[in-house]
Amino acid sequence: MTGLKITSPAKTILFGEHAVVYGYPAIAIPVSQLKTTITIYPNPLGKSNDITIIAPDIGLHKNLTSLPKTHPFFTAFDVVCHHLGITSYPSCTLKITSTIPIASGLGSSASIAVSLIKAFSQFLGAVLPPQTITDLSYQVETIYHGTPSGIDNTVIGFEKGVIFQKEKKVQFLEVGKPVSILIANSGVHGKTKEAVSGVRKRWEQDKTKYETLFEKIGTITQQALDSLKTGHEIKLGLLMNENHACLQSIGVSHPKLDLLVNTARSNGAFGAKLCGGGLGGNMIALINPDHSEEIQQALKQAGATQTYLTKIESTSL
Ligand code: MEV
Repeated sequence: MTGLKITSPAKTILFGEHAVVYGYPAIAIPVSQLKTTITIYPNPLGKSNDITIIAPDIGLHKNLTSLPKTHPFFTAFDVVCHHLGITSYPSCTLKITSTIPIASGLGSSASIAVSLIKAFSQFLGAVLPPQTITDLSYQVETIYHGTPSGIDNTVIGFEKGVIFQKEKKVQFLEVGKPVSILIANSGVHGKTKEAVSGVRKRWEQDKTKYETLFEKIGTITQQALDSLKTGHEIKLGLLMNENHACLQSIGVSHPKLDLLVNTARSNGAFGAKLCGGGLGGNMIALINPDHSEEIQQALKQAGATQTYLTKIESTSL
């Protein structure tokens, strides 16, 4: 039987993670090489609200209503029904798979949240605008991450490079020329929730130090926007290095991330930094694509478990 197929990409944050939680701007792009896929099949003979969820990656095969009300899958269903004013949902089976490594700073949870919102609404024939998908998936993200800024579900919901700032209308990224980004997985599980709450605790203890660092990250992000517009890779690389130093100072790096960042730099990358929540997960390096093979090789020798090559490009507005 053919089903309705929905996909959503992964994401990477180019500049500004963590400071974005405190109201500063950040830049993120979708990574379409990695994705969540949901296929939703109708069960014409099933009873209303009888929904089976199959997620082999996490060993889940259950009826949706048997999940705790606070489960992200249930919340996604609930927010869609609420938004559309639905009390009786047709019986169906959802199969969820993902090629996005979990706990890696690449937005696996936001990608699942966005895909679920799209799947549950489109199965009813409702094609929601990207802003609504983004808003509804934010409610799912709060279950995974506590108090997320909203950048992950926004970049994945719109599937465009974004300049994101809390409480402001999202802007889309425009670049002077495409630039290449190499992503490498440290193999250490990233812990976004723990990283965000750790930063908050330390911020509460020393607001002056942390506000200064967040402000610095905000300035770096603004400068990066200018460099992206002019396509100045050398400047952009230096800004990535500065951003990484700030992330080290707020305590969210990891020795393995630092090793990969240094390896990328010493093998010809213009610059490198951790990306996402940190404490593990992935790093990114700005590279000349002609050198991608050697840099990937060096990163793997230094312990990277996976590498992915992507591009920062202007998005059609
Ligand atoms: C996570 O991808 C990015 C953080 O800034 C958290 C957030 O913005 O919610 C670390």
